[in-house]
Amino acid sequence: MSAMARPFVEIQDVAMRYGGVEGTLALRNATLNVAKGEFIAVVGPSGCGKSTLMRLVTGLWPATEGNVIVAGHEVDRPLAIAGMAFQNPTLLPWRTILDNVMLPLEVVEPHRRKLRAERAQYVDKARRLLSIVGLGGFEKKYPYQLSGGMQQRASLCRALIHDPQLLMLDEPFGALDVFTREDLWLELQTVCQTLKPTVILVTHDLKEAVFLADRVLIMSARPGRIIAERTVPFGRPRTLDDTYTPAFQELVHELREHIAAARRGEEIPDAA
Ligand SMILES: Nc1ncnc2c1ncn2[C@@H]1O[C@H](COP(=O)(O)OP(=O)(O)O)[C@@H](O)[C@H]1O
Ligand SMILES: [Mg+2]
Repeated sequence: MSAMARPFVEIQDVAMRYGGVEGTLALRNATLNVAKGEFIAVVGPSGCGKSTLMRLVTGLWPATEGNVIVAGHEVDRPLAIAGMAFQNPTLLPWRTILDNVMLPLEVVEPHRRKLRAERAQYVDKARRLLSIVGLGGFEKKYPYQLSGGMQQRASLCRALIHDPQLLMLDEPFGALDVFTREDLWLELQTVCQTLKPTVILVTHDLKEAVFLADRVLIMSARPGRIIAERTVPFGRPRTLDDTYTPAFQELVHELREHIAAARRGEEIPDAA
């Protein structure tokens, strides 16, 4: 990316208040930029407005104040270029895994228009994604026939099927055991190195943030805003062994101190 390139996601001085003037102020003076192809992680105390931020970026909700700009355009409706996955996989129980993964194609243009004529290619693509995340052979199963981790993998495929330029992940692995979670980190890393989407990941797992992200943003307690950021200096592909190195653990520890301070309503002054 050239130094001149405009950020892919620009959030400028955003405030979000729920429920009218007397309502909950979830975000205030939230400002952040994400470069095209960058992977950022957002961490912060629970209830600080992380999910709210995700809703504003994807256009599910309008900001009360400030600007949300994606790919150079003010966001004023749900974004078709975004793929989303959340903490609880929301697969439709009456559709097979394959048909769940293909769902966005029935909604998002230009795929919607092309789906009937090019169905075979789209099915191939869904199968390819499923095999990347270890679900080859499960295409015809129904969600209830899969474990929670497998359903989460399928919802990741669904988030990726329409080649989203922007991947929004809100604690997507939060409900999983640690081994499954680590498997999915590796798979997500592979997918991202192949497809190179811009990614915003919300997580409360600091190790996950450091493992996956190019940059970690730390939010204050509510009303949330970005109070600090750390660039993750480790090369790719990263391995689980990397998570045990002193440099990795030091960075996790430093983030932990920022969050602890944020929970107390303090900020650690930036050393840099
Ligand atoms: N739909 C809503 N209506 C009213 N208040 C909400 C709504 N969604 C979230 N909030 C409030 O906004 C604040 C931030 O919530 P949220 O963005 O979900 O935080 P996080 O994801 O960081 O835990 C919380 O106080 C929450 O109760
Ligand atoms: Mg949340």
